[in-house]
Amino acid sequence: MSDATSQPIHTNHSYTEVAAPALRSVEDLPEGAFPPDYAYNVGPTLVSAYQQYGPIFRVRSQYTGENIVFLVGPEANRFVLQSDRLKFSHHEGWGKFFSVIELFGDGLLTMDGAEHDEHRRMMNPAFTVNYMDRYVPLMNRIIRERIGGWAKAGVIDIYDEARKITFDVAAEALTGLHTGPEVDQFRNIFMQMLMMGMLVNSQEEWEERIRECHNQLNALLLPKIAARREYPTDDILGMLVSARDRHGNALSDEQIIAHTNILLVAGHETSTSLTAWLFYLLTQHPDEAQRLLAEQEAVVGSDPEKEPTLADIKRMPLLDNMLLETERLYPPVANGPRGVVEAFDFHGYHIPAGTPVFYSIAAAHLLPEVFANPTAFDPDRFAPPREEHKKTPYALVGFGGGPRICIGINFAKIEIKALVSQSLRRYQFELVPNQEIVQYYRVTAMPLNGIRLRVTPRSF
Ligand code: HEM
Repeated sequence: MSDATSQPIHTNHSYTEVAAPALRSVEDLPEGAFPPDYAYNVGPTLVSAYQQYGPIFRVRSQYTGENIVFLVGPEANRFVLQSDRLKFSHHEGWGKFFSVIELFGDGLLTMDGAEHDEHRRMMNPAFTVNYMDRYVPLMNRIIRERIGGWAKAGVIDIYDEARKITFDVAAEALTGLHTGPEVDQFRNIFMQMLMMGMLVNSQEEWEERIRECHNQLNALLLPKIAARREYPTDDILGMLVSARDRHGNALSDEQIIAHTNILLVAGHETSTSLTAWLFYLLTQHPDEAQRLLAEQEAVVGSDPEKEPTLADIKRMPLLDNMLLETERLYPPVANGPRGVVEAFDFHGYHIPAGTPVFYSIAAAHLLPEVFANPTAFDPDRFAPPREEHKKTPYALVGFGGGPRICIGINFAKIEIKALVSQSLRRYQFELVPNQEIVQYYRVTAMPLNGIRLRVTPRSF
């Protein structure tokens, strides 16, 4: 298989003697393969394909046999996320390829073009850092209530616990639902939808179960939407109900439910994964955990009951860097799917409209030419003067990038920082011995067997 990555992207010569090299087609792309353990090794598998073939190669889908084109590395990320983003469709990628529309409806993640921009403009104000001031108290309360029982339990599975916290927080901040039976029902419906592929045996069963889930969701959400039409609230559901596009039109019930679903799924599944891996890394690096505790005590104080304010949360550079390092090593989303809606040329290849494409988050984060000793946990790589991620734009893309960067990035980081702040000042965590910690990509980078931690209250 030849590697054509050394070919120029464009030839700007105006004289005619030098013919521009002919662009090659998708079929000419070097072909990589998904080994059987791919879901356990997404980043390393794609890095070795990148090292062998360069930043563009193809893999055949094991289900349909069609070519999927992978674009890997910071230059490719910039191409997909920024410079040539309008040639790529979220609707075709997330929406159809990953069945997100069928499962959850057509929300922000799956819209394209002007419709997306209009809806993003309506939603942006509720996701700015300063708007987080209204969520921090509810985040702190839910975290306090949930972690309060950890000492008595003695051993917790941080993946399960993180899911309860992030779902409760998302449900209350987004829809005003309080922790209790309604939120539990809500969580169960979402878990069924996320695991649907594993629960059904036929297309009919798939359709039937999705219909049931949608009916249950409608029964929960439609009365809340109707109530907010009468009495506006400042949770995000209330904001969606009051939002108007530039022609003064309100969103339909169907659109509001789709947005809420996507925000709830995107807003808790990914944060659950990142939280669990951060706690795991802290147990593996006790010196770093100690440094983090020192930062917490310097910023929030030594009283373990004191909850961090938004101002405190903004002044935790070491925790910021540990989060970045966890995002780099355990990105919750492995690859961003797109459909090509306008043909493009990249590194000598011509990729036609209709091709499924992935930009790879997990692989970009492990490139040794960008991140020194890339498999090592080294949060200081993000601190001055090293700042490895700033030297190569679009190298760290755990939240995507460009105009469609994750809308919930502030929400997620503030929530996880509040959780770490409260729990680290109260408890010591150790990994329960003799468990196999396995990273596996299902919906997100899940720890396949969970992560069990022994929790001991700190002595004061
Ligand atoms: C650790 C937590 C999170 C991670 C790692 C994460 C990751 C991502 C990534 C990678 C994308 C871009 C996908 C692409 O380019 O194809 C994205 C988009 C998105 N995320 Fe997040 N996310 C997180 C938390 C959240 C939260 C808390 C919310 C909402 C409350 C949220 C809502 C969304 C939405 C709506 C989009 C689509 C934005 C658009 O296309 O305009 N995410 N997220």
